[in-house]
Amino acid sequence: MVLKAPSLPLTEKCHHYTRLQDVPWDIQKYWKGRHKIFSNYNDGINLTDDAWFGVTPEPVARRIAEDIWMPETTTVVDMFAGAGGNTIAFALTGYYGRVIGIERDADTLACAQENARISGVPEGAITWVHGDCFVVLKELRAELNLSPAEGTIEPLDPSTTVLFASPPWGGVSYTSQAVYDLSKMEPYNLQSLHEACHPLPHALYLPRTSDLQQLADILPPRAKTKLLDENTEGSAPSIKVVQYCMHGFSKALVAYYPAVESLAGAT
Ligand SMILES: C[S@@+](CC[C@H](N)C(=O)[O-])C[C@H]1O[C@@H](n2cnc3c(N)ncnc32)[C@H](O)[C@@H]1O
Repeated sequence: MVLKAPSLPLTEKCHHYTRLQDVPWDIQKYWKGRHKIFSNYNDGINLTDDAWFGVTPEPVARRIAEDIWMPETTTVVDMFAGAGGNTIAFALTGYYGRVIGIERDADTLACAQENARISGVPEGAITWVHGDCFVVLKELRAELNLSPAEGTIEPLDPSTTVLFASPPWGGVSYTSQAVYDLSKMEPYNLQSLHEACHPLPHALYLPRTSDLQQLADILPPRAKTKLLDENTEGSAPSIKVVQYCMHGFSKALVAYYPAVESLAGAT
């Protein structure tokens, strides 16, 4: 049973900085680009100091919200909602009947809820969950036949759901490697993210230098899988990888994985 998060209060870790001298030195380079991250920053956008490092800039988040949508999609789950960059963009497209944003850190989730309000997301358009996305996802997928109790979340229908994951890019810095080894990404590597999402269609927001061979190799070979989208039946599973650029520089890539089913007995 997954509970909806209540509206959380902003805490002393949530900040809306208005003067450079108040901003911690390690964030100052991001604060200068605050209006590129949230065009409505001045309306009172709140971020924890950690959130500055990982928030998806608004133009990129908007574009991803368009690109991830498929005609059958009614639900999008943002597994790492952070301060709300992507979750808000999903809600503002109006494409999705249900937008679920999961965040483990209460301070960051409070920022995301506040940012959604001031960005004009209608009340109730986003279902927020305070918890570990790996646990939450497992529960939402396992409960398909149960009717939800008051204050809990309806289970996911795998045929109409797409997952989005923008995990922390911890471990060895991706800027120090020509090709970023996704097996070393911390605390969640490519394998663990893919295993949590598979076989639902999912999009992974990853460093721009991510190893494309690793992204391809994680998909089981054609002989072992069947594509679940009937429009592409008979095709080999393939992934789409998009570099999202601002001012000529890539901010990140997104690997779009289709829905695939492992075939019984395949070795
Ligand atoms: C890179 S940030 C996401 C940024 C987000 N896309 C945005 O635009 O604001 C990663 C977030 O995942 C959260 N997180 C890390 N592990 C998590 C987990 N297991 N479940 C849920 N959230 C998690 C972190 O607290 C952090 O806020």
